[in-house]
Amino acid sequence: MNGFPAKRMRRLRKSAAIRDMLAETHLSVDRLVAPLFVRPGRGLRSEISSMPGQFQFSPDEAMETIRRWADAGLRAVLLFGITQSKDAVGSAAWDDNAAVQQLTRNIKQALPEMLVVTDTCLCEYTEHGHCGTVAELPDGRVDVDNDATLDSLAKAAVSQARSGADVVAPSAMMDGQVAAIREALDAAGLTETLILSYAVKFASSLYGPFRDAAESAPAHAELEGRQTYQMDHRSCSQAIPEARMDADEGADMLMVKPAAAYLDVIAQIREQLRLPLAAYHVSGEYAMLKAAAGAGWLNEREAVLEITRSIRRAGADLIITYYAEQLADWLA
Ligand code: PBG
Ligand code: ZN
Repeated sequence: MNGFPAKRMRRLRKSAAIRDMLAETHLSVDRLVAPLFVRPGRGLRSEISSMPGQFQFSPDEAMETIRRWADAGLRAVLLFGITQSKDAVGSAAWDDNAAVQQLTRNIKQALPEMLVVTDTCLCEYTEHGHCGTVAELPDGRVDVDNDATLDSLAKAAVSQARSGADVVAPSAMMDGQVAAIREALDAAGLTETLILSYAVKFASSLYGPFRDAAESAPAHAELEGRQTYQMDHRSCSQAIPEARMDADEGADMLMVKPAAAYLDVIAQIREQLRLPLAAYHVSGEYAMLKAAAGAGWLNEREAVLEITRSIRRAGADLIITYYAEQLADWLA
């Protein structure tokens, strides 16, 4: 009984009822996190040209959108801040009155059940667009100074958590950032704030549209983009140690990013670590789908459901996606 014609695999697919009964991967709005870009001001809502359907909002306009998301069943947002007041170290990141902190307070007041996740990084706040303090290191290289950056990240996380963020999500890829943030949060009495670590984050061309959205394209050609801190896409063997390190430092949840092009990495982390796992379907992955759908080259709904389910199938518990609102609609 181990071959054709006695065995016929197609019997398992012969009707919708059988296919649905055997479906192993399920998607629900509970699993989705919707990213949002906020900048200071009032009445601002400008579409990001490389990310159709995504906007930069002022806090008031953002609230309107987030209320709509809540009505659609979405339960978590991921906030990114944009600022005009950039400096060498990114000090606006820990300004309690910056747009992210302000919007966080507004959300928690109006929609206390909505989970607020804040991206904890410095690239939106530094004038050079890097995720930390750039300095000449002892070996003569100019690079992001890992240890000098930890204090800045910790201050940003504390400011975000104090504003009411449920989860802080450090994305700078500095060694030791989770420990530094956990220690600072606990010292400030913020022991209930979760850390979702961007533990396995690759240096990816797929972040291109995001850098338009967040106005955070990195300068300093000598740093080759962010390749001295984000991972090399040609290598996967650092993924487990990166994830383990963050788990040991106290991360509550881990993330792999990008998502759809890195399903192998998601599957490995899922197998090796038992922490809740998020995957970030990033701006470039969104932009590609939007472009193809806009040109009429594929069925957007079917393609997005397939890719998002594939990210779940690979092992992600949560999916951060710019398609969150559309998915909520499609899944309803
Ligand atoms: C900031 C950050 C980036 C993204 C999330 N947090 C950009 C980067 O590292 O260059 C990318 C998200 C996306 O492309 O959707 N460190
Ligand atoms: Zn960054």
